[in-house]
Amino acid sequence: MIRTHTCGELRKSNLDQEVRLAGWVNSWRDHGGLVFIDLRDRYGLTQVVFSPRTDAKLHDLARTLRSEYVVAVRGKVAARPEGTVNPSMPTGEIEIAADDLEIQNKAETPAIDMAAEDSIATAQRMEWRVLDLRRPVVQQRLIFRHKVARIMRRYFDSLDFVDVETPFLAKSTPEGARDFLVPCRLNPGTFFALPQSPQLFKQLLMVAGFDRYYQIVRCFRDEDLRAQRQPEFTQLDVEMSFIGMEDIIGIIEGMMALIFKETLGLELSLPIQRMTYREAMDKYGCDAPDIRYGMNLCDVSDIAKRTTFRVFTSAIESGGVIKGFNAKGFGDLSRKDIDNLQTDIAGIGAKGLAWLKYGDEGLASPIRKFFSDDLAAELATRMNAQKGDLLLFVADEPKIANTCLSFLRTTLARSREGIIPKGIFKLTWVVDFPLVEWNKDEKRWDSVHHPFTAPHPDDVGLIETDPGNARSLGYDLVMNGVELGGGSIRMHRREMQEKVFNLLGISPERARDRFGFLLKNLEYGAPPHGGIAFGLDRMVAMLQGADDIREVIAFPKNQKAACPLTGAPSVVEPKQLRELHIKLADET
Ligand code: AMO
Ligand code: AMP
Repeated sequence: MIRTHTCGELRKSNLDQEVRLAGWVNSWRDHGGLVFIDLRDRYGLTQVVFSPRTDAKLHDLARTLRSEYVVAVRGKVAARPEGTVNPSMPTGEIEIAADDLEIQNKAETPAIDMAAEDSIATAQRMEWRVLDLRRPVVQQRLIFRHKVARIMRRYFDSLDFVDVETPFLAKSTPEGARDFLVPCRLNPGTFFALPQSPQLFKQLLMVAGFDRYYQIVRCFRDEDLRAQRQPEFTQLDVEMSFIGMEDIIGIIEGMMALIFKETLGLELSLPIQRMTYREAMDKYGCDAPDIRYGMNLCDVSDIAKRTTFRVFTSAIESGGVIKGFNAKGFGDLSRKDIDNLQTDIAGIGAKGLAWLKYGDEGLASPIRKFFSDDLAAELATRMNAQKGDLLLFVADEPKIANTCLSFLRTTLARSREGIIPKGIFKLTWVVDFPLVEWNKDEKRWDSVHHPFTAPHPDDVGLIETDPGNARSLGYDLVMNGVELGGGSIRMHRREMQEKVFNLLGISPERARDRFGFLLKNLEYGAPPHGGIAFGLDRMVAMLQGADDIREVIAFPKNQKAACPLTGAPSVVEPKQLRELHIKLADET
């Protein structure tokens, strides 16, 4: 037996036992006579002492130990001498008086500081990911992830959900992001797509009568990587039959409460609050609002149109809005700071950034002259402006104004300590999403969720008359400003699904070609159904206070969608391409 105990296990109750431990040398100290090492494994650290008086040869060997050597030791559990007890270490009351040592493997000097808490550059950590993963803080994050997944499985198992695997080699469907394609050797010129989600398969499982399905499943999306996104990520995917939105929400709230309780010991107060999409847009300018702090947006078009400021009045004349928010306490920002903010939002479409500071004499700014005193007072009251505040405004079409202000609100809140309360979790459902939104560039309606989300029953008539105002039966769960999950009630009748495809500009031929398997099966007894999917990576990262989902993925990709560890993706042999009947463009 190489080991009798783990490195996190031994206590005073084990005194005088003969034990064997194995692990990595976490640290070593050669104190003249004695050599101390902290031996580490997944379970903890144990101090081992080598004394020349016990065995001179053994002591000499111990002096050759260096960080990350893999060793097995044998010895007796001894109480640490008075004054050397380490209360911050679970095994801190004991040490092993070694009488045997075997070096199982040496190690080069690690390229990263194994003892550093979190200060190592991410790029370096990802390149040396295996060593990085050996660090206890990193291991704990993945073990936490495992616990969350286990709670989910236990929860859904207890509610009679069936875990069904769905294909990875699937059909390319225009669902949202770009597909990863896989050439099929046996059918030259054809491609599988890696699934962006199991959406259609889970719906078909409902048609097949499975009633309650869940899966913790990898999804693939070839999209530009932003924070909180990876080209392959994991969903908790759920679908149910004969249910409405309230049933799904109820089941998911039960799951969230269990996860909070069992991982963080927190009571999640249920029900989770709800907000309509409209309200989210009005107050926060985005559909994943961070409700941990204020600085909510407000529409001041009615005041702005009574000013003599052309930027405001002409924006309103051309159908726009003037929205803004009170950046509480940001009155100390310099002109240059504000100019920088303006440059930032110019990148997302803003034509400018208007501002007023509330100083000793009330509101002041180059645009103050366009406001009568009464109007300025009305504005200050509306926005609850006090001394030291900065009021920021964007005049534009609602979408641009919202996007810019939402960006400014979060950027400013993150820029100073004390605005976003630490260590709290604020959740909200967002409901009553629009069914579709107008895509200006492509001149067509796009789904807000996906093309399988059912319209709100009260708004079906609007699909033909005023599609932009039709709501869907979609819902998202948002935590601290991040979309954790989203889902919807689906269309289970072919006519309705075809009607929505038609609205989205998907011709009957294309619908048959791409989604024929769905449409056909909807005709053979599809029950009403709906579901939801969560980003497991996001949820697990956020619960642990990590901003970057790479922290909870063992082998993540970098910003260029490459694996820094293995170097994937890489070029392949010409023979492999020939077998796949693929010719690279620069070869022709
Ligand atoms: P959706 O596209 O909203 O819905 O995805 C569900 C959740 O998956 C997470 N997510 C991601 N996480 C990491 N990296 C990514 N690239 C990424 N993309 C999405 C998010 C998101 O909320 N089939 C539908 C669900 C349904 O209708 O049931 C779907 O996939 O947390
Ligand atoms: P201008 O009259 O273009 O010099 O702009 C005067 C001020 O109004 C500057 O601070 C601009 O940043 C700001 N501004 C211009 N366009 C907009 C807009 N669409 N929304 C908000 N502020 C604007």
